[in-house]
Amino acid sequence: MKLIQTEDGSYTAFNKQYQEKYHSISGAIEEAFEKHVNALKLKDGMKILDFCFGLGYNSIAATKDHQDLKVIGLENDKKILELMKTIKIPKMLEYEYNNFRNLAENLKIQDAQNNIIKILIGNALEKIDKLPNNYFDRVFFDPFSPKKQPEMWTEHIFQKVFNKMKPKAKLSTYSCAKQIRKNMISVGFKVIDGPIVGRKSPATIAIKRS
Ligand SMILES: C[S@@+](CC[C@H](N)C(=O)[O-])C[C@H]1O[C@@H](n2cnc3c(N)ncnc32)[C@H](O)[C@@H]1O
Repeated sequence: MKLIQTEDGSYTAFNKQYQEKYHSISGAIEEAFEKHVNALKLKDGMKILDFCFGLGYNSIAATKDHQDLKVIGLENDKKILELMKTIKIPKMLEYEYNNFRNLAENLKIQDAQNNIIKILIGNALEKIDKLPNNYFDRVFFDPFSPKKQPEMWTEHIFQKVFNKMKPKAKLSTYSCAKQIRKNMISVGFKVIDGPIVGRKSPATIAIKRS
């Protein structure tokens, strides 16, 4: 798989099937912190769904300065998990990343701060049905773009994700496309602008109304 260095020094991958990068070129790890972890104001002990785990930057960034997190990551490509073993990580996330480099082999890993990341391998569109309802406090929603992967951004899928979230739980995603926000709103989410990072338009935060 082709790796590309982004502007914060971290690496992203390029997916040949979808002809798309996994992260913004302005900074893969910056994106994890700014669009997801910091935007969702995590607290220790939260339960997190990482919908499209990839290289795990969002979930692993979440473990920095937090404890007792329970993360479930959905991912269908074992090759991207294998890449975690060797990919070079900037100093600011290296310690945390090293804790979880072996997820391809041990699909569940616990760090010294009692943060647990567990991966379910397979199609996220189906695996999500195996998860408990009203369970997650936060969701990192990070498939390839709506243009390349429209099936991931439908009302049907947002309804499933919504059902898995607790009342007042929050979801972060990079897309602010009108139709995507419309789909979120139609299943009951309140939608607000997320941070503007690496491009002109904002990310999106969706909140489950209580
Ligand atoms: C944009 S990348 C996610 C980047 C990731 N959050 C990270 O920090 O590296 C999208 C990921 O979704 C995965 N994916 C695509 N379709 C999927 C599906 N139907 N089920 C599970 N994973 C899928 C891809 O293999 C890829 O790793």
